[in-house]
Formats: sequence, C-alpha cells, structure tokens
Amino acid sequence: MIFKNEEKLFPAYLPEFLPGRETEIEKMKMLFQPTIKRNIPINIMINGPSGSGKTTIGKKISQYLERESENLKLVYLNCMDTSTNDMAVMEIMKQLNISFPESGHPFEKKFHSISKYIKEGNIHLLVVLDEADMLIKREKSSNLIYLFTRAKELERGNISSIIISVDDIRPQMEPQTAGMFGNRNMLTLEKYKEKQLTKILKERIKLALLPDAILDESISFIAKLVAEEGSARVALNTLWYAGCYAQERGYKRITPECVRAGMAQVHPTTTETKLKNLDRKQKILLLAICEALSKHDESGVNTGRAAEIYNLLCESYEAESLKRSGVSIWRMAKELEKEAIIITEVKHSAAGTTTLLYLRDAPAKELRNALVKMI
Ligand SMILES: Nc1ncnc2c1ncn2[C@@H]1O[C@H](COP(=O)(O)OP(=O)(O)OP(=O)(O)O)[C@@H](O)[C@H]1O
Ligand SMILES: [Mg+2]
Repeated sequence: MIFKNEEKLFPAYLPEFLPGRETEIEKMKMLFQPTIKRNIPINIMINGPSGSGKTTIGKKISQYLERESENLKLVYLNCMDTSTNDMAVMEIMKQLNISFPESGHPFEKKFHSISKYIKEGNIHLLVVLDEADMLIKREKSSNLIYLFTRAKELERGNISSIIISVDDIRPQMEPQTAGMFGNRNMLTLEKYKEKQLTKILKERIKLALLPDAILDESISFIAKLVAEEGSARVALNTLWYAGCYAQERGYKRITPECVRAGMAQVHPTTTETKLKNLDRKQKILLLAICEALSKHDESGVNTGRAAEIYNLLCESYEAESLKRSGVSIWRMAKELEKEAIIITEVKHSAAGTTTLLYLRDAPAKELRNALVKMI
C-alpha cells in the first residue's frame, strides 16, 4: 500500500499550508486589512504561470476573509464557465441566492439587484474572477471589472475583487479599469523553483502517503523533472500517478521508475516518432541509459557508466564502428536532451565533476523494450 489518504492529491483539495508562497499570503492579508477593519473595498490582480498557485492563493485568502470579516460574502467565478458579463452576474445572483422572477432582465437590472442586496444587507461582496482573461476576450471589454472596482464610488455597494489570470491583463482593459490596479495591487507569482517544489511535495506526502512509501530520491527526481516548468500541479500529479503505478503493482515504495511512469502520464514528450527519428548510435545510447536505470532504483546514471554500457552494447550489436569516447557520449546526451527525451545535470563532488543523465518521462523498462525492437 502506498496511499494513506489519496484525496489529498485530488485537484479539489485545498492545502492548509502553501510552502513557497508565505510572503505572498502575508502580502495579501496586509492588503485586505482596511477591508477587514474599515470595510474599505480593494481590488487585487494575481498573475503567474500555470500551476504557480494563483487559484489556491485566491481561495486561501477568501477563506481567511470569510473568517475575519463578519459581513463579507464570497462569490467565486471561473470565467471559463461564465465568460460573458451576463453569465457572470447571473452566477453571482445564484451564489447569493438572489431570486429574479422574470427571465430576460437586462444586465443593468441584474446588477442593480446585486447592489440592492449588498446595500440592504450591509454586505461586503468579494468577487473572485478566475481566468478573467476569458471574460475580457469574449466581451472585448472590461466593463464588469470596472463596475466592481468603482462600485463604492458609483454607490453600488461595497465590492472587492480578486482578478486572476496567467498574464497581466491590464493591457487588454480600458484605461480607466486598468488604472484601478496599481503596482501595489498586483501579485505576480514566479514559477516554483526545484527547492520549493520539493517542499510542496514533502508537505503533501505527509498527508497523502503512508510512512516510507516513497524514496527520497524519487521526491527530488520529481522536483528536478518539473523544475523547468515550475508547476506545482504537474509535480503533484506526477506524484499521484507514480503512486498509483506503484500501488497497482504492489510495490512498497515509489521508485524513480514509478516517477518516470507518472511523468509519462502527465506530460509525455518521448513519443514513438521521436524515438524512430533518432540515429542508431543515439538509440544505443538511450538503450544504455535504460539498461543502467532499470537495474537499480536510481533516478540518474553518470556519463562514465552510460559510456561503458554503450560500448558493450555496440559490441553486442556488432556495431564496433559506433563505439565512442566519454566526450562524444556527453555530446550525444546533449542531443537527446535537446529532443526532450532526457535531462542532464552537472554534479560537482570531491571526486570531480560528472554529468548525470535522467530519462524524462518514460519508464526505463518499457523504453528499453521499444528500443530493442528498433535497433
Ligand atoms: N505553494 C503551494 N503549496 C502546496 N500546493 C500548491 C502550492 N501551489 C500550488 N499548489 C497546488 O498545485 C495545484 C495547482 O495550483 P493552482 O490551481 O492554484 O495553480 P494556478 O496558478 O491557478 O494554475 P492555472 O493557471 O493552470 O489555473 C493545486 O492542486 C494546488 O493545491
Ligand atoms: Mg487556476
């Protein structure tokens, strides 16, 4: 058994702690203090690449505000689903339980009923608009966001907003809306770095996995593989699929091979066509890497060892002319890295400098079988 509580890896799970986002959460809490203490509306925009924690931060802050402020009501909208102003206000009404007897009310009337509801109930409305770029794209206007940000001045009641999108969407907004988001109101998230991904994984492993169900090497391997993309989602999904792979096979632990299998599910880049297009020596080198990795629970193999196996394989394939020195092996490895089949990492130690070679997203055993048929 691998999992203690698999649900903790489901996308719907909202984690208690957000390693690597402590300062961002603190900044958001600070920005919302005037709202909590003096009922003053604020508008924040959160940007950052996919998997950088935008939605999660939006939800965490909403939770905090609901706890801290008695008159606050939260409405969360994903503009993928509510991509027009009309759909958005209808959804707000639905979430606030505002009834509207006749259908086909014009937008203005619907917005008015929301204003009336929040003014009469002395409510502070917090609207979280996730994937807000979809709304602006579809409407070709940022009218609705403008109404939210100016609600108090326009005597429409107290409305605060958190506007979420991958890119900064101020350039797509009308100047008067964009002007409501000064640098102070922007939260820009960076991709997660390898160390932060390791922390996120470790925190989640404590909740989701049985003790000792994953090798430390597998944790750092996931973080290494995902570091370039820097997405917590990809890291956690890889962990989850790797766990399923191990559990289905009755393994006691998640090994690097399970991680490769997990990555193959989440982000397959090693396609059969790509393999077929490699030349013979590249295929033999890849086979050498697979041979090394499928025998041991290791995430990477050093170039020296890969070269030894490569040259032995050349002999057994009666391809002596393809035999290569360490330097050419390193060069070939770089070519495979360019093809996004492996990643290389330079390691410095007392014994000297070596380069480690890692398969990216294919289980070594499966890849070996495929290559044997091709060589
Ligand atoms: N700092 C963190 N600590 C723990 N888990 C995190 C952290 N950041 C993100 N996650 C997890 O990663 C996943 C993706 O995060 P989230 O949905 O917030 O990303 P996003 O920036 O909104 O991505 P997208 O642009 O694709 O919507 C979620 O499952 C979330 O729980
Ligand atoms: Mg999101």
